[in-house]
Amino acid sequence: MPLYSETLSLPTGAFTILRDLIHERIGLYYEESQRDLLADKLSPRVIALGFGSFLDYYYLLKYDAATDEWQAVMNALSVQETFFWREPDQIRALVDVLIPQFVAKNPGRAIRIWSAACATGEEPLTIAMALQEAGWFARAPISIVGSDASPAAIEKAQRGLYRERSFRSLAPELRERYFKAVSTGWQIVPEIHARVRWKVANVTHEDDIQDLGATPFIFCRNAFIYFSEQSIRKTVDLFWKYQPTIGYLCVGASESLLRITTKYELREIGGAFMYVKGLD
Ligand SMILES: C[S@@+](CC[C@H](N)C(=O)[O-])C[C@H]1O[C@@H](n2cnc3c(N)ncnc32)[C@H](O)[C@@H]1O
Repeated sequence: MPLYSETLSLPTGAFTILRDLIHERIGLYYEESQRDLLADKLSPRVIALGFGSFLDYYYLLKYDAATDEWQAVMNALSVQETFFWREPDQIRALVDVLIPQFVAKNPGRAIRIWSAACATGEEPLTIAMALQEAGWFARAPISIVGSDASPAAIEKAQRGLYRERSFRSLAPELRERYFKAVSTGWQIVPEIHARVRWKVANVTHEDDIQDLGATPFIFCRNAFIYFSEQSIRKTVDLFWKYQPTIGYLCVGASESLLRITTKYELREIGGAFMYVKGLD
């Protein structure tokens, strides 16, 4: 194992075209001040492929049928900071207010909840635990989808094995109830894990999200902080296009859509703020 990994230089010209290509395909936006960060994250790929420069790598991504390489780019750039019971107010509002309302209006109708950009799965599993605690799985046909553009993140979510840092906000009794201690960490119990279907999906790609977006309940939290306004707008417009007539969109506590969209309206529901489509 090398003691350090080599970083190739990323000259301004190559940085600009590579940065713009990444922005167009994934939504992530790197400022000029983040040039070294981008070079650090992608150098191992450039070296592993035997290229001498970022320009060669740019041409591979731009012109070859480089689908696999885009997955590697996504894995390299993905920031998978997440934990159980993170920003729980919107999840409480979902469980205590929105699901009861939906079930009362549409008895027997299947309900799907989508956690887009779920990283290693802590968010959709938190939703599953909260629904289980409130007894909803026994009362309504609810399913949850967890997706992320990084295949490596989704593989980890599928394994369902978590370490200490994922538990910083989870009450100890919930950890006892829903996880089994194993030698390498904590394994989510199968009853909860099986409530979530996992998918690799890029929220800026219409093909990836048209089916997933057809749900009243979308959580897309703490991913837009890495996007440009333009790519947030593109993504939010896609959500709006595919959500049913009435839809709820939860973004992270530090993210605001007020400058981005007038289609969704910010509302306080059950003590939590979320963006709503179609209510008057
Ligand atoms: C900080 S995590 C957020 C995890 C979780 N939603 C939370 O709030 O704890 C951000 C995730 O966004 C994902 N991401 C970034 N760009 C994406 C895109 N275009 N489509 C889908 N996921 C994306 C990253 O791979 C990363 O796993």
